[in-house]
Amino acid sequence: MKTILLIHGPNLNLLGKRDVNHYGHLTLAKLTKQVTNYSRTSGLKIKSFQSNYEGRLIDFLQKYSGSAAGIIINPGALTHYSYALHDALLDSKLPAVEVHLSDLATRETWRKKSVTAAACKKVISGKKIRGYLEALDFLRKSII
Ligand code: DQA
Repeated sequence: MKTILLIHGPNLNLLGKRDVNHYGHLTLAKLTKQVTNYSRTSGLKIKSFQSNYEGRLIDFLQKYSGSAAGIIINPGALTHYSYALHDALLDSKLPAVEVHLSDLATRETWRKKSVTAAACKKVISGKKIRGYLEALDFLRKSII
């Protein structure tokens, strides 16, 4: 079974307590469980990780991308300024999908720019948990 890395950036550990209009009601544990269950129906395995620290996210990518087939990442606010995360995604040489729970196009101007998107094959924004399931469908098709 191929492994997909599911990576959550800063503040996503507080899902469920954050603005529910933007991020929905699900906790991170529930979201991860639903994505994991869905991955099984797609014949994929999830290895998930959350950190509030940019360097830890990069360490995780460097450690596990060699044994994975794809990446789903919600970089949180790092989306908007982390060139280091961009480079780590690129260096992984894996197909990556960037997912945002909220609709970045309708929020503050500074959120409209993603510096990590250029290292990803696809960006899905504003679909809450459905975005993660769509990302899995996309990766399943692109790694077969
Ligand atoms: C987010 C959007 C980011 O701008 C924000 O900083 C987050 C979550 C989203 O999932 O919509 O923490 O990535």
